[in-house]
Amino acid sequence: MLPSCWGRQLGWCGLLLWLSIGNSGAEPPTPPPKCTDFQNASLLRGTKLKVQFLLFTSKNPNCGQLVSEKSDIQQFGFNASLDTKLIIHGFRALGTKPSWIDKVIGAILRATDANVIAVDWVYGSTVAYFSAVGNVVKLGLEISSFLKKLMMLGVSESSVHIIGVSLGAHVGGMVGRFYEGRLGRITGLDPAGPEYTRASLEERLDPGDALFVEAIHTDTDHWGIRIPVGHVDYFVNGGQDQPGCPTFMYAGYSYLICDHMRAVHLYISALENSCPLMAFPCSSYKAFLDGHCVDCFNPFLLSCPKIGLLEQGGIKIKPPPKEVKVYLLTTSRAPYCVHHSLVEFHLQEPRNKDTNIEVTFLSSNVSVKITINIPRHQLQGNGVISHTSPQCQINQVKLKFQSSTRLWRKDWNIIVGKFCTAPLPVNNNDHMTCLPVPVTLQAGLVATCDLNINCV
Ligand SMILES: *[C@@H]1O[C@H](CO)[C@@H](O)[C@H](O)[C@H]1NC(C)=O
Ligand SMILES: *[C@@H]1O[C@H](CO)[C@@H](O)[C@H](O)[C@H]1NC(C)=O
Ligand SMILES: *[C@@H]1O[C@H](CO)[C@@H](O)[C@H](O)[C@H]1NC(C)=O
Repeated sequence: MLPSCWGRQLGWCGLLLWLSIGNSGAEPPTPPPKCTDFQNASLLRGTKLKVQFLLFTSKNPNCGQLVSEKSDIQQFGFNASLDTKLIIHGFRALGTKPSWIDKVIGAILRATDANVIAVDWVYGSTVAYFSAVGNVVKLGLEISSFLKKLMMLGVSESSVHIIGVSLGAHVGGMVGRFYEGRLGRITGLDPAGPEYTRASLEERLDPGDALFVEAIHTDTDHWGIRIPVGHVDYFVNGGQDQPGCPTFMYAGYSYLICDHMRAVHLYISALENSCPLMAFPCSSYKAFLDGHCVDCFNPFLLSCPKIGLLEQGGIKIKPPPKEVKVYLLTTSRAPYCVHHSLVEFHLQEPRNKDTNIEVTFLSSNVSVKITINIPRHQLQGNGVISHTSPQCQINQVKLKFQSSTRLWRKDWNIIVGKFCTAPLPVNNNDHMTCLPVPVTLQAGLVATCDLNINCV
């Protein structure tokens, strides 16, 4: 494998030499762009790797220009002083072009001025997942030598950003390893799990592969990897199951890939929308839902990461900490953003059994509900509630003390306590709003209270 790679690099050196001689005269007129699309792999021959690099620029955002060893990429509008973003797809069951790729390219070019290169390895990624996995190292080598060619044109290592989907995320990790972690950034969109969860750091994406590595996890119980693989790992809605995705087998193909593909759609949405997909560091999804992780202090020193193109995701610490799991909730449709609120209930007196309180936020058109639990002998229970309107548009909160449904253990008690809420991140208690008087809740009955929060 290596000798052919060296041969290729030498080929490029020769080519560059030729180019620099060839370019010393007058600039030739720019030829009209010739557009090339992704290949279609036939099921019979689809396992053999055949890579195409397609360049998209803001001048020609809808036209992929095939960059071959013989082409002068700068004539195609490649600008070495801009960032270069490579998009690498994953396993293609049917050997077809990824349906989302045009959207990702368009969204990147609208969000930033960059050279976008789509890596088409449809040939090599199809038929069987395991044969696609078998091509990862070879593909990583081909991409690395392609990058070497770009670097000879003046592209800096830190200006390279690889966006890899599923198996493509580990390909990105492989490329990053060949560059010993000096590439700028790798974004893994639901990095593949099968064959990779127990793989060594050399084989899979890991924080050592670039200056900043991030992963968005949306299907950790099927196609995605469940362990953290970056500096920051977003576990969206806990990382396993996504709202709006079918949960039953008979939904067919969309059942199989809906959760997995959500990472791609979230990323596109983050590029296109100004609404923030901010996430909060926490040890587990349960601890996040229970309201134990509501600030951005540890380890980010008040800068929680956001999905999108912000440098280091918006984290201010350099170098960034590693393998930090961060959590966020979303809606079922683009733009996916929600406002997260901490809700707290403080009992006046402890009880000798668990207390469950249903909390409903109501705005003019939305109603969202969660249940918070106060363990027995304790005074306080927390939760995180997500809603599409900002907190100041939540007009009312409904509180219901859930009595035990089992008649012989029915809890007839009345509880009295204080209700408070604050939008996340709660970096200090300044933004905490509490109901002015303690509420009295009778088991099974709903109390409705007005929330008066000013919009700032
Ligand atoms: C691949 O197949 C699609 C759909 O059949 C077709 O539209 C497209 O032109 C084909 N691409 C190439 C490069 O042949
Ligand atoms: C390349 O990008 C830089 C930075 O945006 C810009 O100043 C320069 O004009 C661009 N070069 C070409 C040939 O477009
Ligand atoms: C609720 O109303 C707000 C403001 O009128 C609007 O922006 C939002 O899209 C509505 N949400 C839903 C789910 O209808």
